[in-house]
Amino acid sequence: MNFFAELQDHSEVKLSILENYTIPWMRKIILNPFNKSKRCLLIDGFAGTGIYDDNRKGSSMIMVEAAMDFYSQAVKNGWDEPDILIYLNELNTDNHKSLISNIESLGFESMDDKWFSSNDFESITIMIENKAFEEFFDEILNIGEGKTLIPSFCFVDPFGFSQTPFRLFEKYLKNENSELLINFIYEHTNRFITHPNEKVRARISTHMGLVGLNDLSDKVSGLDPLERKKVIIETYTNNILNETDAVHVKHFDIKKNRRTKMILFYATKNINGLKLMKETMWKHDETGLFTYDDKQQMVQLDFETILSTDKQMHINLLSEAIYNNFSKRKNISCEHIEVFTIIETIYPLTNFVKPALKILEEQGKITNFKGRKKIKTYPAKTRMDFN
Ligand SMILES: C[S@@+](CC[C@H](N)C(=O)[O-])C[C@H]1O[C@@H](n2cnc3c(N)ncnc32)[C@H](O)[C@@H]1O
Repeated sequence: MNFFAELQDHSEVKLSILENYTIPWMRKIILNPFNKSKRCLLIDGFAGTGIYDDNRKGSSMIMVEAAMDFYSQAVKNGWDEPDILIYLNELNTDNHKSLISNIESLGFESMDDKWFSSNDFESITIMIENKAFEEFFDEILNIGEGKTLIPSFCFVDPFGFSQTPFRLFEKYLKNENSELLINFIYEHTNRFITHPNEKVRARISTHMGLVGLNDLSDKVSGLDPLERKKVIIETYTNNILNETDAVHVKHFDIKKNRRTKMILFYATKNINGLKLMKETMWKHDETGLFTYDDKQQMVQLDFETILSTDKQMHINLLSEAIYNNFSKRKNISCEHIEVFTIIETIYPLTNFVKPALKILEEQGKITNFKGRKKIKTYPAKTRMDFN
């Protein structure tokens, strides 16, 4: 079947996470007073056609339209025009052609079929390549060798496990402000991890970065599917943390017909990036499992129901986790508690940390507040003692 005939529901959630992350990410980067260059780079290594035959948008179109929306916001608010570079790449010649015509339909024009610009969005520049990902990404990483890339976000959405040499991610994540969202094709990779052919397994190691694959296949053989998935996720997360400069990794499980099809892995060095991605992923599954299950679609999309039934339970659990971590410690700031919540718990900050602290205050477990004007408020600099 032609992949681009119709966007499947489980792929839609992947793209919705991308869409919900991109604009706030650009805003954080461009409006950050410490980012003097006011530029950012979006990369889509497996860009597809831009638009599916059923008229729904693919990743590349989502990125370009997000940049256009952000540009319009900036103009409306009187901010400097945001300087946004977008590098798109698609290997298949027909898909590449469709991609070009879809980008042109947005008003972007090119003299050479590679660099595109628009008079209406002057500070947005799009490059469209027709290469294998390896070559495309290698070239980007070799531009200005030795210098860091401008702040960038790279989306990697292959069909399988053999087109994404992990050494490139290692190199990419050395850049100061670089973030990666990889679509790990779980179903396919899982099947081949224990493949008898050494060459196939070596390919998985080199391309998915699953180092120590022999150990992994020993570990997973005989496990039930859930346990097996847990071990694979843990191994992949640790591989990213150990082999690259990323210090935070977050994943999101995407199921079709009750089976995990793909897992999005997000890697960053930046705690603000992690905070934003957690909030984005949480919005797509408020059960705390960071999972999208197409069979539960109706329930999962009905966030209000989930909020009313489960939210209080989650807030209670977070208050317990905070208390267990800080118990008996003095002079702890709200900022410190927020960092703990982002890194060590499944919860986002918004609508969670403050209600959790309120519970602890009402229970008398936190006292002796300094640096706040009103009780039961928790500005970042407020300090408190845990009893
Ligand atoms: C899963 S699809 C991408 C879907 C796209 N991200 C979207 O949201 O619509 C994978 C795409 O990668 C292309 N592709 C396959 N091998 C590639 C390679 N080695 N380098 C770059 N693109 C490749 C395929 O033609 C296909 O369009």
